[in-house]
Amino acid sequence: MRIDVVSIFPEVFRPVLASSMLGIAQERGLLDVRLHDLRDWAEGVHRQTDDYAYGGGPGMVMKPEPFFRALRDLKADAPGECTVVLMTPQGRRFDQRAAEDLASREHLVILCGRYEGFDERIRSLADLQLSIGDYVLTGGELPAMVVIDAVGRLIPGVLGHEGSAAEESFSWGLLEYPQYTRPAVWEGMSVPDVLLSGDHARIAAWRRREALARTAALRPDLLDDADLTPEEREFASGTAQEKEAGRLDEGES
Ligand code: ADE
Repeated sequence: MRIDVVSIFPEVFRPVLASSMLGIAQERGLLDVRLHDLRDWAEGVHRQTDDYAYGGGPGMVMKPEPFFRALRDLKADAPGECTVVLMTPQGRRFDQRAAEDLASREHLVILCGRYEGFDERIRSLADLQLSIGDYVLTGGELPAMVVIDAVGRLIPGVLGHEGSAAEESFSWGLLEYPQYTRPAVWEGMSVPDVLLSGDHARIAAWRRREALARTAALRPDLLDDADLTPEEREFASGTAQEKEAGRLDEGES
């Protein structure tokens, strides 16, 4: 997968991209992230990428021309399927489903805004506008890194163990089941016996139930979209009601 990132601060991506999983993905040729400085498409000695807002008001607005030129050049450089993503707090909320969808694409171009906002015409370039949450950051760079990380780790071959992405939080539409490693007892806290049993069917059933109970207790909103059997739905709604009645403490599964 190729990802082109357009930003006025391309350097801030480097340490994140060099980090273990994303770095290995690039070394293995599974992920090809190319960083671009928006100023390379700006004009004048100052290579200005922002300007005052028409109609007045505080703060600067990002100019449309550098983004339009950048996209024209990047599309010419890599003809074929390309999904243009604009990071903005006004976008659709980014979630695991969106990450899975993007991980199946050949080529992403991620546009990062800054300052108070960007010229409205820039939105017309985007196939997808994405927000990472209902808060306003100083720019689209951190959100873009979140998207690259979440998408990059889903590319086949990037994670050491192919099952790990498929089994974790949200892949069932549920929170992840509790995990343990050695020692079996630590400071009086024991690993549940079932995990030491070697009985894979029992372990799988326990994990599924724990994931359900945990989701019902901590994030009942996720249950609406989760793929559950009628029995599981009944169990989850019982757990959610118990939680509602205050019988489960916060953090308890
Ligand atoms: N740019 C500024 N805040 C943002 C957010 N929450 N999500 C995506 N892009 C942003």
